Amino acid sequence: MSVRPAALEGADPPVQPTGGGDVPRHVAIIMDGNGRWAAKRGMPRAAGHRAGAEAVRKTLRAAAEVGVEVLTLYAFSSENWRRPEEEVSDLKGLLSFYIDKELLTLEHEGVRLQLIGDPAAFGPQLEARLLGAVERTAANRRLTLVVALNYGSRGEIAAAARRLAEEVRSGTRDPASIDEQALDQAMQTAELPPLDLLIRTSGEVRLSNFLLWQAAYAELMFVETLWPDFDGDALADALGVFAARQRRFGGR
Ligand code: FPP
Repeated sequence: MSVRPAALEGADPPVQPTGGGDVPRHVAIIMDGNGRWAAKRGMPRAAGHRAGAEAVRKTLRAAAEVGVEVLTLYAFSSENWRRPEEEVSDLKGLLSFYIDKELLTLEHEGVRLQLIGDPAAFGPQLEARLLGAVERTAANRRLTLVVALNYGSRGEIAAAARRLAEEVRSGTRDPASIDEQALDQAMQTAELPPLDLLIRTSGEVRLSNFLLWQAAYAELMFVETLWPDFDGDALADALGVFAARQRRFGGR
């Protein structure tokens, strides 16, 4: 099953990212470093992931306060299934706990939850809970939290190409109409504002199959902080650097 976020009420279609100097409308984060954070403390990796969930709460609150419209978090990649079964199970448990524990907070704070990726792989129970949370928060407008679950960008692009090919085959699309806009609209992020800022924590400098299409004109930021140590202040620092950068979108 593929999940496409619903339209953002009042949001512009994804044409041009935010201009320099503004608060970014759409921030995405590759939350890396939970394992190293735990190892440094002689704790199990699961403890790092738990601390990571706490960092999600703090960052989400700070993002809403400064007026970020969309926060997209890479919580589980389509490659993460290669981790030991015990760790995958810990991550699923944590996600399930977070959904139960945080749902009320999300509702009260005006946060709308959306998903990209394919949460069906987490099993019918967790998938139903996740989709229930998406439904319960659908009317919220303060901030949209997009959680990428079992997500891989190349897979998303291939699925978009497949969709367009099907439309050509069924006679509803002219191949000449397949341009950047058409592909953009076939992505799971079609209804979201363009990605302005992509942050990766923990000092690793790669995109790891996250939002490859969407990051074309995003500002990229690689910070040394391990994800569990990330918080509102760290987000404010990143937004300060973003505001100081000049974005030219290929022009001069
Ligand atoms: C990367 O750290 C982190 C993950 C694979 C999982 C991210 C999940 C969370 C922060 C918790 C739950 C999320 C939500 C949205 C509630 P790593 O394990 O690869 O760290 P390492 O590189 O130091 O080993």
